Amino acid sequence: MGFTVAIDGPAAAGKGTIARDIAGRFGLRHLDTGLLYRAVGALGGDPVAAARALAPEDLRRDDLRSLAAGQAASRVAAIPEVRAALVAFQRRFAREGLGAVLDGRDIGTVICPEAEVKLYVTASPEVRAHRRWLELGGDEAQVLAEVKERDARDMGRADAPLRPAADAVLIDTSAMSIGEAVELAAGVVEAALRRAGAG
Ligand code: CDP
Ligand code: CDP
Repeated sequence: MGFTVAIDGPAAAGKGTIARDIAGRFGLRHLDTGLLYRAVGALGGDPVAAARALAPEDLRRDDLRSLAAGQAASRVAAIPEVRAALVAFQRRFAREGLGAVLDGRDIGTVICPEAEVKLYVTASPEVRAHRRWLELGGDEAQVLAEVKERDARDMGRADAPLRPAADAVLIDTSAMSIGEAVELAAGVVEAALRRAGAG
């Protein structure tokens, strides 16, 4: 059976960077589950139909990283039928092969509640908005407003709201460099892999 690492948290906390590093370091596959919701939002039209028909090439569109795509993603992500249409793909990905790292909002709570490692990566809204602003530019106050709006929508929705799993390891990266955050997370994964190997 595969070894699953679930990484959840709000926008620009460092989830994706940590997930990619851990996957490369330990030979696990990586799925950025936010891309699924970003693609559904970007496709337009009926989001439930888009989620049911989502194809690999939809995840390779080059307009998925923008602030607008993030907002559209969080709107369609509140629709239970959209989430339901994406569950099977994510669970299959998590359990194929030697294992996988999935990052998103509900991986440790809903998609892979049995994951061997659960990390909840966060940082203050101001720090996260500054990071997103460094990546995307624009007006920093506007980026902060959008980060806060998306946090509220993702944490407040009825279906699979963003929250740490009861057994998640919390990593607050507000005062950490990305290198420090990655090393901390990798240490947690390495210890769990050692336990799994010994058990
Ligand atoms: O996936 P998520 O939106 O949580 O964040 P990310 O894309 O991994 O990180 C957003 C940006 O913040 C990237 O440019 C990271 O290098 C940066 N970052 C940072 O500077 N310090 C951290 N402790 C975490 C992330
Ligand atoms: O990279 P960043 O953290 O800014 O966003 P993302 O991970 O690409 O996610 C975009 C949006 O998709 C989030 O704001 C959530 O509304 C939604 N999402 C979700 O509901 N569940 C997931 N597992 C992943 C993303």
